[in-house]
Amino acid sequence: MNIIRVKDYDELSEKACEILRDDIKKSAGCVLGLATGSTPEGLYQQLIEAYNKGGISYANCTTFNLDEYVGLASDDPNSYRYYMDEKLFSHIDLPDDQAFLPNGFAMDPEKECRDYEALIKDAGYVDVQVLGLGLNGHIGFNEPGTPFDSRTHVVDLDESTRQANARFFHSMEDVPKKALTMGIGSIMESRKIVLLVSGEKKADAVKELVNGEMTNEFPASILQKHENVILIADEEALSKL
Ligand code: F6R
Repeated sequence: MNIIRVKDYDELSEKACEILRDDIKKSAGCVLGLATGSTPEGLYQQLIEAYNKGGISYANCTTFNLDEYVGLASDDPNSYRYYMDEKLFSHIDLPDDQAFLPNGFAMDPEKECRDYEALIKDAGYVDVQVLGLGLNGHIGFNEPGTPFDSRTHVVDLDESTRQANARFFHSMEDVPKKALTMGIGSIMESRKIVLLVSGEKKADAVKELVNGEMTNEFPASILQKHENVILIADEEALSKL
């Protein structure tokens, strides 16, 4: 794992943007894997700024998001589709029909998962996957105990994950109990993974990620096995290494 140490969150976002920008410029139809949550917000802001300055176009990119809540419509402000539209898609020239998220409103969620896998395969798999890190080591919504070879699937969300995300909802009851997520096996098929971690509260998770044993009780530990992972972390997140 290649670790890039940065001073703070702003530098983390700039560095991540630099890496993605280079990959997008290098490959004609770059396939990006995207995450939601707090951590990539600065990166998305940077990608928008790069577009506004005229230095880059996303017109030939295809994007696949990691996950989506079950039961939230795309215009629900807490859905990940809404987040992506707000924070990135509506500000850049990525065509709507090249931006994919699992559909949390699908009538048949299991079929939706199979179809999502097929879409990723048809696109030639993900070139660069952006990941955040959960406090319990989750990646996407792959909670502790998820098999390393899992594919896109329906998950019951951990109580700790629901609590961590409750800040976005009116009350705990409003936080969905299920989600669709790319599996760990699906994530591991990405050619490159850019993992973003910021802040002191993630320091224990980073220590476990880098020095802990590889176990599905800490899903992100599988990344030790991937040949092309770049961990971009700020000083606070790296403080326990
Ligand atoms: C979101 C996702 C999650 C987050 C993780 C960290 O699409 O896949 O695994 O990356 O929960 O979230 P933040 O960045 O809010 O700390």
